[in-house]
Amino acid sequence: MSRDRVINVNLSSGEHYDIRVGSGALGALSSTARELKSCRKAVVISDENVGPAYGKLVKKRLEEAGFEVSDLLVPPGEPSKSIELASELWTALAQDGFSRNDLVVACGGGVVGDLAGFAASTFMRGLDIIQVPTTLLAMVDSSIGGKTAVNLACGKNLVGTFHQPIFVCADTRCLKTLLEEDWANGFAEIVKSSFIAPRRSFYEWMRNNAQGLLEHDIDLLTDAVYMTAEFKASVVAGDAHESGQRECLNYGHTLAHAIETAAGYGTVSHGRAVAEGMRFAARLSVEVLGCDVSVVRATDALLDELGLPEIPWVAPPERLFKLMKGDKKARDGQIRFVLLRDIASWEVRAVPEETIIEHLQAWCAAKQKLIDKNGGKMWGQK
Ligand SMILES: NC(=O)c1ccc[n+]([C@@H]2O[C@H](COP(=O)([O-])OP(=O)(O)OC[C@H]3O[C@@H](n4cnc5c(N)ncnc54)[C@H](O)[C@@H]3O)[C@@H](O)[C@H]2O)c1
Repeated sequence: MSRDRVINVNLSSGEHYDIRVGSGALGALSSTARELKSCRKAVVISDENVGPAYGKLVKKRLEEAGFEVSDLLVPPGEPSKSIELASELWTALAQDGFSRNDLVVACGGGVVGDLAGFAASTFMRGLDIIQVPTTLLAMVDSSIGGKTAVNLACGKNLVGTFHQPIFVCADTRCLKTLLEEDWANGFAEIVKSSFIAPRRSFYEWMRNNAQGLLEHDIDLLTDAVYMTAEFKASVVAGDAHESGQRECLNYGHTLAHAIETAAGYGTVSHGRAVAEGMRFAARLSVEVLGCDVSVVRATDALLDELGLPEIPWVAPPERLFKLMKGDKKARDGQIRFVLLRDIASWEVRAVPEETIIEHLQAWCAAKQKLIDKNGGKMWGQK
């Protein structure tokens, strides 16, 4: 029995949309799409993994609502977030006679959401888009907030737009087919939210339900998606263009981006890198903000329980430091961290270089021990 819940996102710009979360939420897609759009045409953009299963179902739902529906498939994976594929999508829309009032539906993970969002926001200066996220990460993060992007050879997400969806439909039944690393990516973002969201009860709920989440209990997953999506929606509503509050979403990401780059994209998944980044930031919070050390223990325990243990991977501390300094979120050469005063209370601080280097050295030494224990093998090495 589906028990959908709806989050209303009300942006200061006046834009608003609903996020529907439930194990059966797709059942409402036909009626909601029709209420929102009176147009004739719709296109479902998906990837080759998701299209044959969930994309097909989305197409059926839209046809039931009387849309004339086409579908476009892109190859799965990060390389699809490219200007070349965006251009292929623009061309397909043009050849199919899409006009300004028609509808784009993105069905897939964050890659499809970002690419389809970018194509929709730029084709004819902007077509409406509905996001149907199918990974845990996309449900709790990428489908909400309107950030779209493609990558350049010299960096990730360097070209993009802000383009809010008109509806987000997160059906948690889609999660049953996810692969292991995609669970890790989603859980890392959920853990992140549970530490920075303003209610401590979110973290406490996570601590009490980590085992059930790890076992993929659909009701618990639906609750976790709802709480995380609600939190992200509240942050985005207050800061649609990422000029202030939204910075908190970067918790754990300063070191994570450096790890992902140093390891080579895809070697350490985003979720595992964020998990490492949160362990690091929690320790830094103790020194810089006087946060209680119990928060470090809470961070370690929750990550361990959710299948995000420390990983045997290391790079020279100077290299990680240099990458952090070059991060697009650094300002005037100062590395800024989202740090915790406590669970549910955060602050952004520019941390002195010596402090960062000291912590990086300690982090690297601990990692080296883990690698030695692992027979000298780093994460990702056969
Ligand atoms: N726009 C934003 O605010 C934002 C936020 C966070 C991340 N992102 C972007 O999101 C992307 C990562 O998204 P992702 O982690 O969802 O990866 P992804 O889109 O690459 O999906 C991961 C894999 O899972 C497959 N998949 C999707 N749904 C599935 C399902 N239900 N069952 C089985 N397999 C399924 C996909 O085909 C793919 O192979 C990155 O490009 C990142 O930059 C964007």
